Amino acid sequence: MTNLFPGKGFSNRIKITQNEFMQLRDIIYELSGIYLQDNRKFLIENRFAPRISELELNSYTEYIDYLRNHIKGKTEELNMLTELITTNETSFFRDNPQLKVFRNFTLKNFIDAGNKSGRREIKIWSAGCSSGEEPYTLAIILHEMLKKEISKWRIRITANDISDNVLKMAQKGIYTKYSLRTTPENIISKYFTDKGNDVFQINPDVKRLVSFGKINLNLDRDLKRIPKSHIIFCRNVIIYFDKKMKKKVLEGFCNNLLDVGHLYVGHSEALHTVTDKFKPKQHTGTITYHKI
Ligand SMILES: C[S@@+](CC[C@H](N)C(=O)[O-])C[C@H]1O[C@@H](n2cnc3c(N)ncnc32)[C@H](O)[C@@H]1O
Repeated sequence: MTNLFPGKGFSNRIKITQNEFMQLRDIIYELSGIYLQDNRKFLIENRFAPRISELELNSYTEYIDYLRNHIKGKTEELNMLTELITTNETSFFRDNPQLKVFRNFTLKNFIDAGNKSGRREIKIWSAGCSSGEEPYTLAIILHEMLKKEISKWRIRITANDISDNVLKMAQKGIYTKYSLRTTPENIISKYFTDKGNDVFQINPDVKRLVSFGKINLNLDRDLKRIPKSHIIFCRNVIIYFDKKMKKKVLEGFCNNLLDVGHLYVGHSEALHTVTDKFKPKQHTGTITYHKI
């Protein structure tokens, strides 16, 4: 899903000045690590217009004052701000070439090792999971790989996001066909219940593998709460961060990932300019990252 306001109907919306934009950018960065490029002014005006008119404010300066007052005490407006600034675009089976590598390289590796040692455990962290399509996709792939053997495995997929709204949707596990636009039909019929009227509910066997929770990747104490992982997925999340924040988050991933672990990021998110803590491994269609 995406929470981008379409912009229509706000032709009289209040304009943001460069100074106000910079102040708002600092507040957002401090809150979430999300860094707004200069060309995001129009996006801000589009997304914030309904909130500013709801609060009956006359300028961004008034809104910034309002935010500053709330930052001192209540978290309510900060949560509202989070909803306005995050981009939650996602879908089931997003980036199939990458998922093929996840299946044939990463999972095969961990399944073979687990069967050999008898320690059948896989812990996955989906960081920035949006409305759940990514962690549920990983759970479906695990079912497809392990079939009946899955009952012999301890599988834990920890899925987090900063946005309460998307986490609520994820926990419900109810989707429209749009979320399933790149999902094969046989997978839809096997792992979803078609409730009619374009409503598809994820099956309990998939749902029970995933636990959702709120975290802010900008907070060290939140990162430390996550159990150590064999595999981390953080796709299309760090793209919104500046270099300093990317470095910090990748440091957190390095501390979380077990030595044998594999890290997946989005296909446009190269790590070599940001950190030297991971070495890349090139595959057809994707790169996996491994601790040095
Ligand atoms: C574009 S979605 C990516 C969803 C999924 N990983 C995928 O690739 O399909 C980015 C998600 O990152 C989350 N996010 C952004 N900043 C965050 C932060 N500081 N802490 C945790 N999650 C954050 C957003 O709320 C959003 O749901």
